[in-house]
This record gives sequence, structure tokens and C-alpha cells, in this order.
Amino acid sequence: MKVISLEDRKQFGRVFTPRAIARMLVVWAIRRDQDVLLDPACGDGEFLALHHPSVGVELDSDCVASSHIRAPKASIYHSDFFQWASTTTARFDAAAGNPPFIRYQRFSGKTRLLALDLANKLGVRLSGLASSWAPFLVVTGALLKPGGRMAFVVPAEIGHAPYSIPVIQYLCSHFELVRVVAVRKSIFSDLSEGAWLLLADGYGGAAKRIELAICDDLSECRFDEMAWKPISLTSWEDAGFRLRKFLISDEGLSLYRSICSREGVSRLGDLANTGIGYVSGANDYFHLKPSEVKRYGIPNRFVVPAIRRSRQLPVGSVSTEVVDQWIVSDLPIMLLRLTRAQRLTSGVKSYLNIGIARNVQSRYKCRNRDPRWFPARRYLSYTSSHIRI
Ligand SMILES: C[S@@+](CC[C@H](N)C(=O)[O-])C[C@H]1O[C@@H](n2cnc3c(N)ncnc32)[C@H](O)[C@@H]1O
Repeated sequence: MKVISLEDRKQFGRVFTPRAIARMLVVWAIRRDQDVLLDPACGDGEFLALHHPSVGVELDSDCVASSHIRAPKASIYHSDFFQWASTTTARFDAAAGNPPFIRYQRFSGKTRLLALDLANKLGVRLSGLASSWAPFLVVTGALLKPGGRMAFVVPAEIGHAPYSIPVIQYLCSHFELVRVVAVRKSIFSDLSEGAWLLLADGYGGAAKRIELAICDDLSECRFDEMAWKPISLTSWEDAGFRLRKFLISDEGLSLYRSICSREGVSRLGDLANTGIGYVSGANDYFHLKPSEVKRYGIPNRFVVPAIRRSRQLPVGSVSTEVVDQWIVSDLPIMLLRLTRAQRLTSGVKSYLNIGIARNVQSRYKCRNRDPRWFPARRYLSYTSSHIRI
């Protein structure tokens, strides 16, 4: 089996599915022995090896070679899936797999253009923030025969990311049954992103609801024993199109509602600004290590210690001692925070020039946040802009 580097993971979404989960999905997706199974991003052939006849598509030549060994009877195409999908006339009884999860920052170039164009032609307009798995699901769905099924591992983002809304809408308008399994214990223990499962059945039909099941640990769950909670499309919309909201138990929700309706009880959000977090647009650039702040000669008034990721948080509270410890450990937590009122020093200007050289201003959120960066002014016209609190 191919050794997966962190770069491979981020650039190509190369994360391989544990056998038991691949089996669970393939067994669900296949109804007859002769059903032809498609894995649109087959990796080293885990899903293909579980069923014959099967067809796989894969970008990476080493993975293609491993797939041939693991699934010698499968037809495997060494290609970009979207290229292949735009020319194939084949249609499939079932599809299963784990599409690459490549975040929008890296999901770029011709593949992205083609992927978004194909999705668009299928009536799904994906935003600039869409990760690769979204067009993979949509385009794969359209390659099914009427009545076809698909079963995929999907990022837990399907439960809350705005760009997953058109994907779920597409699924509901093209499949009779759309099921999502929210998985609490991570399928991929070494990944920070959670993964859920998506099941869709009856291609060519339409679903008026999404069925959601919650599973603590997939190794202890079976699809036919799960409690499927029906969520009408209207209640999904009322919940801001977030499936995650339905993870709260019915008892928890009714307790919350009854507390809210009591006299003297107010929502915290009605009394105070509860917004947390900020978007820098380029975390690796805007967060410096204390040693870098010193090296670039950036005065302290231009940086502020920040909580960059929740993993950084200790149990309990963040005290001055905790922050001092982050600084002593030289963690990259010093957020470069500039305001219009500040006169830039030469140290700050030279750091901003490094940003220009690295083309930070062209990153999606640096381009799309308002006010923007103005690289024409030689050094970035810093703003309070790119840092949105
Ligand atoms: C998450 S892995 C899944 C592999 C396999 N299905 C499994 O679950 O074990 C995704 C695979 O998609 C491949 N990939 C990434 N972009 C692709 C593309 N545009 N076309 C085809 N394969 C692609 C990667 O090389 C990687 O092997």
C-alpha cells in the first residue's frame, strides 16, 4: 500500500477508507451480483476489490497500479475523474467510495473549472468555497442508471458548510431516498476533520425529506438497525440548512424551548455580541511565531496573541500564564493585526512585501473580503479588512 504524505493528503485528498467501512457502503449500494459499481476516486482499490464488476477512476499512477493488484478484474481508468466523466457514456447501477476532500484553497486549476462547470450543467451552482467532494458527488450521481444507488464517505462539513446546501438540494431532487449518517467517533483517527456517510437511493426520483441517523462508533452500527430521523426539507431550511442542528436530541430540544419560553429568560445573543472567531484569509501568513515577530522587527502593537485553533485551548480557561506558555513555546499565534490609523514601520512593510511575493493577496478570502488588499500600492494597503472579527 502507498505511503501517504501530508502533502498528498492536502493536495489530492488521499485518505484511504478502512476496510470495514468500505464493505458496509458497498454491501448497501449493491443489490444484484451483476450490478456495476463505480468508484470515481478509487485510490488503491479498496472499494473495487469488494465487488465485481467494478470500474474505478484515479489520478495517481501509483494508486492505479495498486488498484490493478487489489482488484485485478476491475476496469481502472488513469484519469482526472471530471475529464473522464465528461466523455464517458457508461452508466452505473451503483457508486461507492470516498471522494477526495481537497479544500477550496488547493482545489484549483483546470480540474476545478471542469468540476464546477459539470456541476453547473447539472443545475448545481457551487460557490468558490466548495471543496472537491461536492462536485464529485454531484457528477457521480449523474452517472447512475435510473434507480441507481450511491454510498459515500463525506466530510462532516455536509452537516453545516453553506456550500453543501446545493449538493443536498441536488440529491433530494434526484434521488428517492437521501440518508446521512452523522458519525461521532472519527473514522480517520489521524485527521482533524470528521467524516460522515451519505446514502442515496432511487436515482431519477425525488425526496421530500432527508433521513438522519446518529452513530457514535461505526464499528458498532449497522444501517438496518439505525434510527432514521426524518427531516422535512422545510424544517432543514428553517434550521438554516444545517443538519447538525438535528443532532440535538428531541428531549434536549424541547427542554431548551421550554426554558426559552420562561419569563425572565433571554437568549445570550439578544443581550450581547456572541460572535467568535475571525477570518484572516491566509492563516499561515497572518499568524507569526513570536521569534518571527522579533526577526522581522515588527513592534508589539501590530500583533496580538490569538487562539488560532481550538486544539490550542487548555481544559479550563485561558489565563495570562497559558498565553505566556504559548509564547515561550514559540507557537505561530501572533496575529498581524493592522488598522488604518497605524503608521507602518519598516519591519511591518518588509513583512507585507513578503506577503506580496507569496501572492497572499490572491487567496480567495483575501480577494473577496471587503475592503480588499491593494497590492498596487507596493506594500499592501493594510486594512482592518482581511481580519474580520
Ligand atoms: C479519499 S481518497 C479515496 C480512495 C479510495 N476510494 C478509498 O476510500 O480508499 C481519494 C482519491 O482520489 C484521488 N483523486 C484526487 N483528485 C482526483 C481527480 N480529480 N480524479 C480522480 N481521482 C482523484 C486521490 O489520488 C485519492 O487516491
